[in-house]
Amino acid sequence: MDGLWQTIEASDLAFQIGSTWIFPLLESVHVASLVLMLGFLLMVDLRLLGVAGLAYERPAMTAGMLPWVWMAFVIALITGLGMFVSRPSAYAVNPAFLVKLALLVLVGANLIVYRILDRFRGPLSGRLAAASSLLLWIGIVMAGRWTGHLS
Ligand code: HEM
Repeated sequence: MDGLWQTIEASDLAFQIGSTWIFPLLESVHVASLVLMLGFLLMVDLRLLGVAGLAYERPAMTAGMLPWVWMAFVIALITGLGMFVSRPSAYAVNPAFLVKLALLVLVGANLIVYRILDRFRGPLSGRLAAASSLLLWIGIVMAGRWTGHLS
């Protein structure tokens, strides 16, 4: 992979992103999309935990919020990749960045397991999935913040 990272790093695109106003703009949009995504996710998880939003049916709450979560996630993914391209070899060995990617994979697995179990276990699987989701996202945000301090 080192060869690929060096090729990307030598590109004009990496130079333009890394040495101009583009990086701080990407990071600002990255943070804004996270705030949007995590805000909606928090409402869904608190509903699944039975802590808030009890006036709304579980399916209606998730159906209403998840499209916004996915839209914000795609924006976070695109802006994150944009920042990654500016210094791939540094990020690829950054422990905080690697922890963040691992937790993102676990979040995906958590969602898949919840979708499978929800048919059989209903509210219990919802509570377990919501609790794991909240803990994983807190870890992702902390690892994201630490990335900049370790690179
Ligand atoms: C969608 C879930 C994601 C969350 C919750 C997240 C969270 C964060 C946070 C909190 C920061 C620090 C922002 C700051 O304090 O200025 C950050 C920075 C960053 N994120 Fe993400 N991120 C996500 C996805 C991604 C993805 C998919 C990538 C790349 C493939 C990525 C790459 C980066 C990079 C390169 C930085 C900048 C680190 C630096 O300051 O040098 N992020 N992210």
